[in-house]
Amino acid sequence: MRSDVADPDLADAGRDRVEWADRDMPVLRALRERFAREKPLRGLRMGACMHVTTETANLMRALRAGGASVALCASNPLSTQDPAAAALARHYGVSVFARRGEDKGTFYRHIHRVLDTGPRITFDDGADLVSTIHRDRKDLVPGLIASLEETTTGVLRLRAMAKDGALRIPVIAVNDADTKHLFDNRYGTGQSTMDGIVRATNGLVAGRVFVVAGYGWCGRGLAMRARGMGADVVVTEVDPVKAIEAVMDGFRVMPMARAARIGDFFCTVTGDIRVLRAAHFRAMKDGAIVCNSGHFDVEIDLVALRTMARRFRADVRPLVDAYTLRSGRTIHVLAQGRLVNLACAEGHPASVMDMSFAVQALAAEWAATRKRPLEVRVHEVPAALDRKVATLKLATMGVGIDRLTPEQKGYLASWEMGT
Ligand code: NAI
Repeated sequence: MRSDVADPDLADAGRDRVEWADRDMPVLRALRERFAREKPLRGLRMGACMHVTTETANLMRALRAGGASVALCASNPLSTQDPAAAALARHYGVSVFARRGEDKGTFYRHIHRVLDTGPRITFDDGADLVSTIHRDRKDLVPGLIASLEETTTGVLRLRAMAKDGALRIPVIAVNDADTKHLFDNRYGTGQSTMDGIVRATNGLVAGRVFVVAGYGWCGRGLAMRARGMGADVVVTEVDPVKAIEAVMDGFRVMPMARAARIGDFFCTVTGDIRVLRAAHFRAMKDGAIVCNSGHFDVEIDLVALRTMARRFRADVRPLVDAYTLRSGRTIHVLAQGRLVNLACAEGHPASVMDMSFAVQALAAEWAATRKRPLEVRVHEVPAALDRKVATLKLATMGVGIDRLTPEQKGYLASWEMGT
């Protein structure tokens, strides 16, 4: 089995960590056990471009248990956990092409190494495999059963491709499953982003102004958790409905041009480009801490910041860069503007990834075992899979819920009964 990992000797330590995460992933574990018995993925080659974390390792184990052969590369050069990569390669039979901190050339070479294995089902976190297939590896298109997409930004890109008539393979928007984005994006990103900021800076959040750009699923979670730590939370938005929601959730809402003057911490989670830019940097206070938890490193205009800075010091603390402007004020950027929760902390806790990756595993099984091939378009995850994951998760949490009585079922389906 060929792999390219930073240090194969980390494999045993990595296995301990993968097993630690597995303890908090009971739904995925139950699927892995069923897959091991039924082998629904027997003989299928699968390729994944995802954050190489302990949670992802457990998804790969489930796919392997189902009978698939799996190759994995990183969806972000800074999110790879080298021990998890080493453990996957040595103990779990996965070909892994990922080294934390790899340069751009290596990142894309690794994507090609995965594609070289000729996958029939792919897993993306940000549509990098799908984009590369459409650009450079069209030879793979006829053999592809489906590609599964994990994140909001990836789904946006795929929908844009479908709209332009450019999409050539069936894709499944795993991000859009309720048991994914309602929990992973909100509670996972909320908690792990705060974790990343605190680990990187050791800064006190209580009593400070914390600016959240974007009040989507991730932004809601982040604002909620920042408030929970005692911050004075300010939200910026471009969508008037989301802005009202933020106001009614009790947050101050204002344009970034104003927020820039008062913020102590800034975190972008929009999936958009140049949300923080030159005019905002100019207005920021000395010592402002700036980071991003949206998918790509485009939300903070670091090119502008570099141009504006008269002094730059990298890694004044690990993954904290200091830019001193002509005004004498210094702005601190975390993780070079890349996903702060994965670069400065460990990404989402396993318990929430349990649901996201159970959806991934079930969606892969659904695609692999269908009689009729999927059409070329963006597919939703079938609602039945969402309900299955939610039901299993509730059971593992020991939470019971009510069932509709026959009378209630009839009432909810009728239009004739009134007062
Ligand atoms: P979403 O679509 O629910 O929310 C994005 C929000 O940003 C929207 O409300 C939109 O109106 C707002 N927005 C867009 N441009 C803006 C601007 N210039 N200024 C202020 N607000 C703006 O998306 P979601 O699910 O919250 O995802 C956001 C980003 O986070 C995506 O890139 C997604 O891929 C990524 N993501 C990151 C994770 C992580 O581990 N850090 C986990 C899940 C998603």
